[in-house]
Amino acid sequence: MLRVIVLGAGAGGGYPQWNSAGPGCLRARAGDPAAKPRSQASIAASADGESWLLVNASPDLRQQIAATPALHPRAGRLRNSPIAAVLLTGAEVDNIAGLLHLRERHPFTLLAAPQSFAVLDANPIFRVLNPDFVRRRPIAPGMRFDMLGLTVETYPVPGKVPLFAEDGRDPGTAEEGEALGVAISAGGPALHYIPGCAAMTDALRARLRGAACVMFDGTLFTDDEMIRLGAGPKTGRRMGHMPMTGAGGTLEAFAHLDVARRVFTHVNNTNPALLDDSPERAALREAGWEVAEDGMEITL
Ligand code: MLT
Ligand code: MN
Repeated sequence: MLRVIVLGAGAGGGYPQWNSAGPGCLRARAGDPAAKPRSQASIAASADGESWLLVNASPDLRQQIAATPALHPRAGRLRNSPIAAVLLTGAEVDNIAGLLHLRERHPFTLLAAPQSFAVLDANPIFRVLNPDFVRRRPIAPGMRFDMLGLTVETYPVPGKVPLFAEDGRDPGTAEEGEALGVAISAGGPALHYIPGCAAMTDALRARLRGAACVMFDGTLFTDDEMIRLGAGPKTGRRMGHMPMTGAGGTLEAFAHLDVARRVFTHVNNTNPALLDDSPERAALREAGWEVAEDGMEITL
């Protein structure tokens, strides 16, 4: 049986974001039960509950481990961790910064597309991941492999180079490994985890049709949300994230895909659907979508 724990369901910055006084962030900071905080997006997956694969290592990983008993060291040996592998779906800060927490001589396998390894190599701070302990496994597009009792399949989705690597130019959308989707199963149906996706394509549609569960990029409710709120100059699409709603948005893209369970994750602090009592959340519910919360578990 596949067990997936949502370590964090927020986008980069988390919820509340440190410098935001937006309406949702104010409510989250005040402890409003309808505005539950979200740490930055990541999941942990396991077939046996003993060894775990992390998909992305968020800057909040230290607190996420503390909040997740399944990831605690087991009594008996002085140093150990159930975290056996980390797979990166991209090299944005919110996907890789948590690797710095994993630097204490603990052996694990690090899986990523060559593009993401290149980002780590270009930033010498990641040399803290001593190759004597951290084995690297490059992911080729469309690769399927077994590890830790899990079957893992990775595939490129439309995305872009990380924000910090943009160099002031619009990098455009690529589909060669800058952003990955991952399908994880353990003898049963697969859970697809796609925290960043710039557009729906025919290939992705074919892959997701009839899936048991898809956790998908829920960054923004509307494409121009950041601009309208004065939170930033860019549309969601320019940031590599298709919006939930509007023409070509995620609700529309999934409308006829027959995906049994649809869960938004990587939800930005500006997204009104984070509020349990908002009309936007009601609209998602109506369309058959859930919004992930930290600590949520899915078994398949
Ligand atoms: C993103 O997903 O677009 C990034 O996490 C942006 C960021 O690093 O702030
Ligand atoms: Mn992100």
